Amino acid sequence: MRKIFLFLTLGALLSACEDPEPPTGRALFMTNCVACHGDDGKGDGWVAAGLKRKPADLTTIARRNGGEFPLAEVLSTIDGFHRQTFPDSAMPEFGYLFQGPIDQVDVGDGIMTPVPQPLLAVAEYLRSIQE
Ligand code: HEC
Repeated sequence: MRKIFLFLTLGALLSACEDPEPPTGRALFMTNCVACHGDDGKGDGWVAAGLKRKPADLTTIARRNGGEFPLAEVLSTIDGFHRQTFPDSAMPEFGYLFQGPIDQVDVGDGIMTPVPQPLLAVAEYLRSIQE
């Protein structure tokens, strides 16, 4: 009986490997961002207290930007392109981690920009939690 169970479990694991579901933006957020930004994105994750610079409240990005979600800026903050503006940033660079198939996206300036899907998924998740 136990052998059968083991076999079934292995089968499930193997089929999971063959058909990888790309992780959702929310899943990527829960794995990589909540330590600092908190489960709800408000900036009170468990390592936030120890940081010199408080993690941003990610639910008010649009509100702080005149009601507009600044997709291009958010993408480059996560990716690490903003390093020159914040050389001492406590916010890690995720560009390498979020590589993947490329989508062409209009990030707000009318010009199509190549963006890796996992990076876009996280940014779209942030858009979805705006207050
Ligand atoms: C080690 C802590 C830490 C982790 C992990 C982290 N961040 Fe941050 N983040 C910060 C800090 C601190 C800031 C505040 C600005 C700065 O220092 O650059 C910030 C700022 C941001 C901003 C800019 C917000 C604004 O108001 O413009 C975005 C967007 C952001 N983080 C998204 C993410 C995402 C998405 C993840 C996960 C993929 C993540 N962060 C993981 C610490 C972190």
